[in-house]
Amino acid sequence: MQPKIKSKVRCTDQEIGEIIRVIVDPLSQDISHLVVKTGGRELLIPTDQNVAACTESGVDLAFSSEALARFDLFRREDYVQVKEVEIAHLDRHLDVMPGEALVPIPDLEKNIERRTFLQRFTNAIGLVLALPLLYPVIRYIIHPMYRPFDNTWIKIGGADQLRELDKPRLIKFQKTVKEGFLEREYEKSQWAVKASPGLLEKIYKNREVEFRDPDGKIVWRNNKATDVVIFSGKCPHLGCAYRLRKHRRFGQSFVCPCHLSVFDMSGAVLDGPAPRPLDILPMKMSRSGEIEIIDVEFKAGKKERIRIV
Ligand code: FES
Repeated sequence: MQPKIKSKVRCTDQEIGEIIRVIVDPLSQDISHLVVKTGGRELLIPTDQNVAACTESGVDLAFSSEALARFDLFRREDYVQVKEVEIAHLDRHLDVMPGEALVPIPDLEKNIERRTFLQRFTNAIGLVLALPLLYPVIRYIIHPMYRPFDNTWIKIGGADQLRELDKPRLIKFQKTVKEGFLEREYEKSQWAVKASPGLLEKIYKNREVEFRDPDGKIVWRNNKATDVVIFSGKCPHLGCAYRLRKHRRFGQSFVCPCHLSVFDMSGAVLDGPAPRPLDILPMKMSRSGEIEIIDVEFKAGKKERIRIV
């Protein structure tokens, strides 16, 4: 059995307080320390050899309260919440919620000032040496940034594949991109959902979603007259691909494995670091029932939608 938050903690002679945090070893994924609040202090107690028993009624420590003086005080600045770092399958090992568990910040990360200085110094020297060689390459690379956005409509498949209401499906399609004189084709995927009136209401909230060119000109408007909605397949936090999962707290949701952002079927953020809801793409239906989209992309990590493609 694992220690739980708020469990009572007893030494061999008396009850001393309760658990307020647990520290997780990122390698073994086990609980390595308990943070125990006792007598107005927060102590860091390693679980190894100090925990005699862990039951529903609390945690029994293997020493008397006099020995508490040998444990370090807990320093919050040395740790980061488990949900802020990516540790695969950690929730299989833990009974506590990710927000209640911490992992240590590596020593290398703590010594950030010296490391940042050396890094910047090395980068600056490298840049000065490489500038004459890099200039033509940079010019070539940034040239496409000044091109207007590509507002081509792309057919991504028939709406008949969305048979069930409010059940999203990942739709894959081929996109052709022009790079200089070359044309390249690659596979992309976006989430599509045939939305019930209730879900449409939640998505559009009685307003239209507008898409604009850099000069502010409106390119397209989505509204609830069309019951198919396309969500960009990229998480608005840092652009990872998210998935449809049964979340133990929120039920059927979109879950991003990178930093555990969770979104409901309307794209609204339920949990995690995502700064905005899932991005909706401009879409329309052809007469033959084919879904067409403009494959726009927005800047990741921003609260506002800033179009970049
Ligand atoms: S990329 Fe960070 S939560 Fe999705």
